[in-house]
Amino acid sequence: MTGHEELLQIATDIAAEAGELILRRRREGVEIAASKSSVEDVVTRADRESEQFIRDRLLEARPDDGFLGEETGKEGGATGTSGLTWVVDPIDGTVNYLYDIPAYAVSIGVVEGEPDPATWTALAGAVVNPVLGEHYTASRGGGARLNGRALEVNRGVAPNVALLGTGFSYTASRRMEQAAVLGALLGTFRDVRRIGSAALDLCSVASGRLDAYYESGLKPWDQVAGALIAAEAGATVAGFDGAPATTQLIMAADAPLLAVLERLLVEQGFATPIG
Ligand code: IPD
Ligand code: CA
Ligand code: CA
Ligand code: CA
Repeated sequence: MTGHEELLQIATDIAAEAGELILRRRREGVEIAASKSSVEDVVTRADRESEQFIRDRLLEARPDDGFLGEETGKEGGATGTSGLTWVVDPIDGTVNYLYDIPAYAVSIGVVEGEPDPATWTALAGAVVNPVLGEHYTASRGGGARLNGRALEVNRGVAPNVALLGTGFSYTASRRMEQAAVLGALLGTFRDVRRIGSAALDLCSVASGRLDAYYESGLKPWDQVAGALIAAEAGATVAGFDGAPATTQLIMAADAPLLAVLERLLVEQGFATPIG
């Protein structure tokens, strides 16, 4: 196994186990533990338990690597000495989880450099939807897979028959701005989906369930694994002007469609993205 494949195996195994854990907890009933940035932005006991489980397992397998997880954040993170950091969303799509909508996932990615999408190099990532038993995986230069089957982004789709995905921030004022921008895009695309999990949105671009996706204001853990999976499936994953995707803006699609999406977002005054 090459170094990246070994990392991918670790990400895949631990994401699958954490997926089983959150599924079991979901069947037992969901308990909201707290609200975060707003009342809409909840965290359940399962989010915390899943993160703790993943962290312990990673520490055991890779004691020299850093760790950044949504529920423990920067303060609870570990820097490590190897130059690699594991970036973890223990449940991406918590609101779906709360409502038992089968579109949530465990997302685990490993990056070289600072755990910041603007500068990191993602090496491997796994996104597991435990309800559907769907395991999306990718390693840098090694392609993207869904349950072992190679993935390829949809190519050459005209905007009027392209299905677009996006998401919204938990902050009311930002959601309204985001909705206004989306309203202006609706006339150009076939339709829009708000799946409710950024990781699965990006994997959906990889698998062809979406033709394009964009979102502003994501966190590193929302995008790390999914962005690598989309890119390895042949999508262009970027911010404006070919710059790397950031927490300010991520777009993913086949290159010509991404160019159309970018032009429309710029026209909507998205040059300063809504974070
Ligand atoms: C959220 C989901 C959602 C996206 C939000 C994220 P969470 O993550 O990925 O699709 O629109 O921006 O915060 O809170 O469910 O892990
Ligand atoms: Ca998330
Ligand atoms: Ca989460
Ligand atoms: Ca959350």
